[in-house]
Amino acid sequence: MDQALSHPHIISLAAGFTDNPSLPVEETREIVQELLADERLARPSLQYGSTLGDAALRRRTVDRIRDGDFAALKSTAEDAGGRLNESIYQPQSLQITHGSQQILYMLTEVLFDPGDIVLVEDPTYFVFLGMAQSHGLRCRGVRMTPEGIDVGHLETVLQSLRKAGELPRLKMLYLVSYSQNPSGVTTSLARKAEALRLLRSCEKHAGHTVYLLEDAAYRDLRFRGSDVASALVLPGAAKRVIYTSTYSKPFATGIRVGYGLMPAALGRVVTRIKGNHDFGTAHLLQRIVIRALESGRFDGHLTALQRRYGQKAAVMGRALREQCGDLLEWVEPSGGLYYWARLRGRGTSGPKSRLFKAALKEDVLYVPGALCYADDRTRLKPDNELRLSFGNASEEHIAEGIARLGRAIRSLRGR
Ligand SMILES: Cc1ncc(COP(=O)(O)O)c(C=O)c1O
Repeated sequence: MDQALSHPHIISLAAGFTDNPSLPVEETREIVQELLADERLARPSLQYGSTLGDAALRRRTVDRIRDGDFAALKSTAEDAGGRLNESIYQPQSLQITHGSQQILYMLTEVLFDPGDIVLVEDPTYFVFLGMAQSHGLRCRGVRMTPEGIDVGHLETVLQSLRKAGELPRLKMLYLVSYSQNPSGVTTSLARKAEALRLLRSCEKHAGHTVYLLEDAAYRDLRFRGSDVASALVLPGAAKRVIYTSTYSKPFATGIRVGYGLMPAALGRVVTRIKGNHDFGTAHLLQRIVIRALESGRFDGHLTALQRRYGQKAAVMGRALREQCGDLLEWVEPSGGLYYWARLRGRGTSGPKSRLFKAALKEDVLYVPGALCYADDRTRLKPDNELRLSFGNASEEHIAEGIARLGRAIRSLRGR
């Protein structure tokens, strides 16, 4: 962001901002007018709400997650042992938060002591790494494959923790399971099932529950392929799966409303912490989301948004093929906001690399892939990847930004 501000001509393919022109301005204006024009709704909307969150929003949210899981289970032939457990999708188990960022932070605060261990994907959401670092956690990276977390490697990591007597310090696996930030990968239900099974098998040595935190921030932003059921449908989920997601990406990032569904005992502690933070997410913002959901505006907007991101992803894919086909390799995302690209041949992409400087000279910005890897001394951090966002830049800027990136890479290779 600093770089973007100090280089006004820069095309930023770095920031995780969402698409500006499609923000639901009309819908939100109408909703606010409706809310404030209605005597029954106006004053409660401008009053404090409850710490847990508005009951109507919690009910709608758990129903949405349940319906999504039900439909995903029904539409797949894959049998990973998923079954809908109605008792999980309860409004009293759902905490509404200020963006899903807040629930991630609170969970980190509640579950960990300094020196505890969290398993993360290699690569993962770099803001989570910042939180882990600020709480003094030790991160261990687990490799990814195109189907999601590499369960063979997860098993190896767990075995090494066990041998080192470290399992009592292991608290959680953090999975960004849908159109992952940064890699774009969606984790299959079979992978989630195997990961959960492995975590469960460690609990005896750990001496406590080892949680699976499923961050589904991009679940709604799928523009291709079919949805995958969440880990909530898996055996043993009721005790150890935490599911977080958000209304900010599928509706408006400025309306910072997110949520987490979690086992009851954990939820009670999280709600206490939430009380200490702010005793409840802004009520007006929650009411805007409820109204958007009730009136069908949310679904209408989301359908248009999915189409829009599908188009923008296609523009970036085409530009990459035309401008960087010989320079980079990547996998086409089926949702989310990012391409994850790897340099072909030699070269590094880090913030101090020649490539990063050459890209700045060309007025284009990307997220260096190394930032998305935890500080895990048991392996080397890859330093030849780039996260390229098609979220915020216009289609014209996406194409131009990729052309500039191609020129920057070529300038270092003497071509
Ligand atoms: C993987 C992931 N989780 C959570 C968040 C937090 O989003 P919000 O606080 O807007 O819900 C983000 C935002 O970029 C994200 O990429």
